[in-house]
Amino acid sequence: MSQHTLVNAQERDRKDRLASYKDEFYIPENTIYMDGNSLGLLSKRAELTLLELLDSWKTLGINGWTEGEHPWFYLSERVGEKMALLVGGTPGEVIATGSTTVNLHQLVSTFYKPTGNKTKILADELNFPSDIYALKSQLALKGYDPDEHLIRVKSNDGHYLLEDDIIEAMTDDVALIVLPAVLYRSGQVLDMHKLTKAANERNIPIGFDLCHSVGAVEHSLHEWGTDFAFWCTYKHLNGGPGSVGGLFVHEKHFGKAPGLAGWFGSKKETQFDMDHTMDPAVDVGAYQIGTPHVLSLAPVIGSLDMFEEVGIKKIREKSLELTGYMLELIEQELQDAGFTIGNPVNRTRGGHLLLEHEEAARICKALKEDGVIPDFRSPNGIRLAPVALYNSFEDVWHTVQKLKIIMNEKRYEKFENKRGVVA
Ligand SMILES: Cc1ncc(COP(=O)(O)O)c(C=O)c1O
Repeated sequence: MSQHTLVNAQERDRKDRLASYKDEFYIPENTIYMDGNSLGLLSKRAELTLLELLDSWKTLGINGWTEGEHPWFYLSERVGEKMALLVGGTPGEVIATGSTTVNLHQLVSTFYKPTGNKTKILADELNFPSDIYALKSQLALKGYDPDEHLIRVKSNDGHYLLEDDIIEAMTDDVALIVLPAVLYRSGQVLDMHKLTKAANERNIPIGFDLCHSVGAVEHSLHEWGTDFAFWCTYKHLNGGPGSVGGLFVHEKHFGKAPGLAGWFGSKKETQFDMDHTMDPAVDVGAYQIGTPHVLSLAPVIGSLDMFEEVGIKKIREKSLELTGYMLELIEQELQDAGFTIGNPVNRTRGGHLLLEHEEAARICKALKEDGVIPDFRSPNGIRLAPVALYNSFEDVWHTVQKLKIIMNEKRYEKFENKRGVVA
């Protein structure tokens, strides 16, 4: 490996065909933002669509449901069609609705049909806590003891999962499988295709949490035959804090009654008939529950515009280049700093890296003081996400240089090694 320098980082930026997108975003002043895997930044296009939707309320009042450039009544479906491009869904398989955890509840309520000895839900021990809480509560609602009925596939090293271990756990007593697409700590991308194939062969419905993969890696959910998926839009999709989530249901399940029914799951034409017998939408629309959160969906419209323009393939390629470059720089500059790389170094890494260190909490504080925003994950993880649309190779260079100075001069020692309330 040849020696990396600031000059060659700048050279790479000059050749980068996505470099101009950085100007589309509001980057906090004097900041290198490496936290887009937790909360993406605001773009000018997202701001514009938020203001447009606010204006439609201001100028149209209730007529905004059916008039204006983005009629609110059809917005969830329209945004769903754009998101389908990112997850490999066909039109009608993706809807913008709810939030990650709420959508998971909806999907488990719909797809978890325990019968006889087939009662267990298969997940993994590295899964995000909210998903585990949701699965346990769903089991409890059906009268099953979560300790007995939730199977969590073990990791050999606390970082990664082996697809073969998961497949081995797809036994006859499993009624549903819920797994992450990209692990929130280590950033490992699971082989969704292989896992879906194995689940389909055993007739077990399988779904994925795409929170850390949507907008960062490619998916072909329809082609793979994945039964369902759910995600948020505030990380790589830059939709803003608490922005509306996404939900995919494969068309082979169209017509399946929603576990949690509500009037926005009705066919558009009959919803306002106000009949007490629901007439569900024929596609994924059926899994909506109540009135869409229009103002929390508005920024997603503008943001998705950029993803459509660039295409997820190019975004993934640049993301891999940025994280690959960061890994090489860490090797070059931080060899003696006591860090352990906690993410896959090959192409099964997602959009972020994980550096582990026993002083991680206060190293993050020192980085923030120095204008780099990382993401701390208890107990010892520093997640760094150089994002394709708004980070440069030079950002990566400066991040590693700042980290090097912090470690060499032990600048973190003035902080307490304890996390803040959030992260
Ligand atoms: C992987 C993963 N799953 C689920 C959630 C929960 O999402 P929400 O709070 O939007 O329901 C998060 C939140 O960060 C997450 O990262």
